Amino acid sequence: MNTKKIAFLTGITGQDGSYLAELLLDKGYVVHATMRRASTFNTERIEHIMEHERLHLHHGDITDPTNIMRLISEVKPDEIYNLAAQSHVAVSFEVPHYTAQVDATGTLTILEAMRAHCPNAKFYQASTSELYGGMEYNKNGYGVYNERSAFHPRSPYGVAKLYGFWIIKNYRESYGLFACNGILFNHESERRGKTFVTRKITTNMVQVQKGKRNVLTIGNLDAERDWGHAQEYVEGMWRMLQQDKAQDFILATGKTYKVRTFIEMTAKHLGWEIEWKGSGVEEKGYDKETGKLLVEVDPKYFRPAEVDRLIGDPAKAKEMLGWEAKIGLEELVERMVNYDLKHE
Ligand code: NAP
Ligand code: GDD
Repeated sequence: MNTKKIAFLTGITGQDGSYLAELLLDKGYVVHATMRRASTFNTERIEHIMEHERLHLHHGDITDPTNIMRLISEVKPDEIYNLAAQSHVAVSFEVPHYTAQVDATGTLTILEAMRAHCPNAKFYQASTSELYGGMEYNKNGYGVYNERSAFHPRSPYGVAKLYGFWIIKNYRESYGLFACNGILFNHESERRGKTFVTRKITTNMVQVQKGKRNVLTIGNLDAERDWGHAQEYVEGMWRMLQQDKAQDFILATGKTYKVRTFIEMTAKHLGWEIEWKGSGVEEKGYDKETGKLLVEVDPKYFRPAEVDRLIGDPAKAKEMLGWEAKIGLEELVERMVNYDLKHE
């Protein structure tokens, strides 16, 4: 496919932004993307595409309305993908005000720029399963979330993203803008930030095996997440903007696993079998064969309010977008561990 479409992308230096930029360039788009000035290099995930002739990088920050207004008025994109965020849930409890500025008001800033300068463009908002909060029960236990489920965010991050969700819907209804929310459940990869639980587990356990770290120190072992691979999810984002009508879609695998299961699978891939002993903050994981301590709990990783369990129903995306997650947890873990074995 060879289009001359112009995309404007925030968050290109992040996990999803890097995969999405690759996808858009492959599809022939001209990609304009914002990156933040940093005192150290923050372009590790996009080094391989930095010199691409159709990629244009601009300094930008979505908390700066003048910057975003100017860029969008100059670029006049056909499609806008807002992936920029303070995306760490635990950190949002420490920097709630900043998180709101980026994740809530930042979204509004881009919508206003679109309304003023390219009202016929299409807007993708990186919304999240954190809106749901994991508090819904039904007679069989926890609920499976779909696009009609009620929201109950449990962190400053979730609350800020809830504003983003509703302002997208409001601008769609008020001004007829093509703006949609992708309500994405957790997606991970070899490029996942190393402070999110999956990548923390794979990098730290590889380091333990290589003798570079003593133990993996972790928080809530029993949180459950619906984990897919990020590369597949960016395809779903793009498909949402190829529809005739703007709508909100869930992307998820429809399966959920505990953090402890992710640890066990990572360990297995490294040739260990975890034996758990103790409970609560005293719980520890040992290699069954040698008795070596591999995992311990530190309550400093507990959150003031936790999202216990997330599982999404991707039926609407399958039916209307022809999208479904193909990479299961086993393959996800294998890919991440193999990558970290080479690079850690
Ligand atoms: P990520 O790796 O943390 O990337 C976030 C990106 O946003 C980075 O490029 C970051 O730049 C940029 N950014 C942060 N603050 C900014 C600001 N004020 N102005 C401009 N850019 C800013 O996150 P991700 O996992 O790729 O997620 C992408 C989006 O999807 C986020 O909005 C996230 O909240 C949402 N989401 C993610 C998941 C998931 O499981 N991954 C699920 C649902 C929703 P630096 O590199 O300079 O920090
Ligand atoms: N980060 C982290 N570090 N999480 C831990 C740890 C730890 O040491 N130990 C246990 N956990 C638990 C958290 O308490 C949480 O229940 C779960 O592991 C997942 O945590 P994260 O990987 O940090 O992701 P998240 O689910 O809070 O948020 C991610 O997914 C959201 C979509 O549901 C982020 O990518 C958000 O930006 C995204 O919106």
